[in-house]
Amino acid sequence: MNNSKARLNPEGFKFVTTYNRDQLSTDIVHIGFGAFHRGHQAVYNDLTNDLTSAPWGICEVNMFGSPDLVNDLKAQDHLFSVVEKSATSMDSRLVRTVCEAIHTPVDGIEVAIEKIAEPQVKIVSLTITEKGYCADPQSGTLDLTNALIQNDLANPKQPKSALGLITEALRVRRERGLNPISILSCDNIPENGLLTKNAIVSFATQIDADLAKWIEENVTFPSTMVDRIVPAMTADEFEVIEALTGYADPCGVVCEDFRQWVIEDNFVAGRPDWSVAGAKFVSDVLPYEEMKLRMLNGSHSFLAYNGSLAGFEYIYQCMQDASFRTATLRLMKQEQAKSLSPDLDVDLDQYAELLVGRFSNANIKHKTAQIAMDGSQKLPQRAVDPLTHLQAAGVSATCLPTLVAGWLHFTINAVEQDKEIFDPMAEQFKQAVKAASTPAEKARALLSVDKIFGANGAAGTDFSKAVEAAFTSIQQSGIESYIESIAANKELA
Ligand SMILES: NC(=O)c1ccc[n+]([C@@H]2O[C@H](COP(=O)([O-])OP(=O)(O)OC[C@H]3O[C@@H](n4cnc5c(N)ncnc54)[C@H](O)[C@@H]3O)[C@@H](O)[C@H]2O)c1
Repeated sequence: MNNSKARLNPEGFKFVTTYNRDQLSTDIVHIGFGAFHRGHQAVYNDLTNDLTSAPWGICEVNMFGSPDLVNDLKAQDHLFSVVEKSATSMDSRLVRTVCEAIHTPVDGIEVAIEKIAEPQVKIVSLTITEKGYCADPQSGTLDLTNALIQNDLANPKQPKSALGLITEALRVRRERGLNPISILSCDNIPENGLLTKNAIVSFATQIDADLAKWIEENVTFPSTMVDRIVPAMTADEFEVIEALTGYADPCGVVCEDFRQWVIEDNFVAGRPDWSVAGAKFVSDVLPYEEMKLRMLNGSHSFLAYNGSLAGFEYIYQCMQDASFRTATLRLMKQEQAKSLSPDLDVDLDQYAELLVGRFSNANIKHKTAQIAMDGSQKLPQRAVDPLTHLQAAGVSATCLPTLVAGWLHFTINAVEQDKEIFDPMAEQFKQAVKAASTPAEKARALLSVDKIFGANGAAGTDFSKAVEAAFTSIQQSGIESYIESIAANKELA
């Protein structure tokens, strides 16, 4: 790939919106200009701008990582490429809705605070990953021992966390007599709006009780369910973009053709009508969020750990293995589906088949290792909550304990092989595993990590017994035979 002469050229794209970009100003400040936002919310917003009268502009804010992405975005007039791939075709789309970008480690945090405090801003949206909320993964409450939070409580005007940035910007808006806004979490967390509200109000309470009360009473935090598989980019995928559009866009992403967005309709300063681009506004998102988090993300985690143990690099490769495919369908239909609200108006068997079809798309190179990251932040909502729910209801479960057992083996192997563990709790895992001697003791030490498992992880609970049994079976039979036995078990069919 040689980009030295090539430029992003709208003529190279199949789909290009036509609204007047001169009308764009920052209505939405988005924190976390990662792959997912580019392939999801930015696409919805771009399409909506084309179908409604007043276009909404987005200012992108990154608070971490290399400045290259934001620099590249600015150099190409804030335009970027999205390639959407089905199993048999691919299309290119030019996204035109971004009008500004800030990288706070270079531009200064004040610039982001002032941007959110501009009078015309109506929404701050977020894709900052689960750990960006600095909350205890098990209880969902703000973790006051988190290093970023401790920094921000000591220096509230120079925040390093997204929570600190938003709180300071809201303080400035209130001081200036500006209208309140809405904070829209688009991360994979159940009740992500409520979690964000609790985290920000708890943080503000530590600094200024009046401000906390004002936020609680005036700012809204709609919850969302977001869905589109947007893998981290690889050199091969940049080549795909170049082959399709003539330019290996450094800000481009390649994703699946499916997308879904369910949003709680609770915006205090207005919102784009994203429904014209296919989003659904509802009064209660929770049943949809739990469905997606348990069936899709839970299965992804099952495959990330157990698939990695079996040597699969990508999710679609797991789906090419008949036993993994059957076990995944069982996890979805016979376990996760039974943990969901009976009021959900979705055919869950059909939803499971749709998900397995999406996972099988060999054009989407979603790495098991990418999904395996940050397990401490993901396991509670994807595995611990549904498994304890099923156990309380007397429903037997094999695949959910296997998901957690897969994580135990994956983490123990990583510590023993001295591999990097991508997780905010990596140090704690290393200490726990190194202090134990037998595999069973190592598993027990990890199950005792309170922030992930709470009281469920204690020795002798139904939860622990089921997970420990799956852990031992994987150890004794090997992962392939164990998954084969789950797939072959007629009692589970
Ligand atoms: N990629 C997907 O397929 C997908 C699908 C559905 C939902 N999501 C959600 O989107 C999130 C981001 O995924 P992605 O693919 O964009 O990842 P990414 O690695 O491409 O981007 C992550 C973004 O989060 C920011 N970030 C990380 N830690 C932060 C922190 N502590 N505070 C503030 N910002 C922080 C980074 O700067 C970056 O902009 C996921 O964690 C998940 O909750 C992703």
